[in-house]
Amino acid sequence: MPDRFNVWATRHLPGRALERLASAPDVDLDIWSGPGAPPAGELMARAPDLDGLLCTLVDRIDAPWFDAAAKLRVLSSYSVGLDHVDLLAAAAHGIPVGHTPGVLVETTADLAFALLLAGARRLPEGERLVRAGEWGTWEPDLLLGHDVHGATLGLVGLGAIGQAVARRAQGFGMRVLGWTRSGRTVPGVEAASFGDLLDSADFVSLHVALTGETRGLIDAAALARMKPGAFLINTARGGLVDESALADALDAGHLAGAALDVFAQEPLPADHRLLRTRGVTVAPHVGSATVATRARMADLAVDNLLAGLRSEPLPQQAPPAG
Ligand code: DGY
Repeated sequence: MPDRFNVWATRHLPGRALERLASAPDVDLDIWSGPGAPPAGELMARAPDLDGLLCTLVDRIDAPWFDAAAKLRVLSSYSVGLDHVDLLAAAAHGIPVGHTPGVLVETTADLAFALLLAGARRLPEGERLVRAGEWGTWEPDLLLGHDVHGATLGLVGLGAIGQAVARRAQGFGMRVLGWTRSGRTVPGVEAASFGDLLDSADFVSLHVALTGETRGLIDAAALARMKPGAFLINTARGGLVDESALADALDAGHLAGAALDVFAQEPLPADHRLLRTRGVTVAPHVGSATVATRARMADLAVDNLLAGLRSEPLPQQAPPAG
């Protein structure tokens, strides 16, 4: 094992974790100073010298990168999602991959519920109206939305975040349905088939990882199966949804709305069709973005990285296939 490890962090991170990493006696840390994320060429150029990489979800870590990273001992991602990492290539090279589950569960569930409420009650439209000086007077039919209490929520995925959203929904008096590929059951959540969930839910919220199997899960057929007037909420990954089919379903009036924190292409281009589609509420991928949670994620990412450098078990190591 080398005396000192060469580590690159592709971003400054909130909190004090990178200071802790920099002060580790066996670490030489370099931090990309930006602006933004490093370009792909920079990532590749650095690969051969690194013992450890601390990356974010916008860095594409593919098979050629692992081939080039001949000295690498560990990859630590500042994210729970790992769809930006070729996990099979990591496994083939024997590289442990760390990620940050657990610490962002409640915060992400908060945002999913905030989007659900904002979409159902048309808050972004109301805000725009008031700011534009277009609020004439109280009107009997101004910005009529949809009740959340008493409605049915369908959770696609019942991992930690899905379960945390279920708890919030129960507090709002919602009926909660849940579907998982594994058939897992959760107390207080009615197990449903994927199709039955789409048929019955007034709000469908996505909480599965983006993998080869889940990409495009919410396609035109799934959207057509959703209850007329239903809402789609996505705080997981944009690639789960066929966005053009979603815009079609909204334009056709089949769905009442979609509240989205994540998109197939991020940042969402300003001229993207979804931004011109009625009923769409958007946020810029901020599900885990609170001061405390982003600091906890940084701490866990650094703990994973240090463990991997020192050939210790990672506190949160991704399974090889994700
Ligand atoms: C993740 O961690 O994967 C989220 O998308 C951002 O926190």
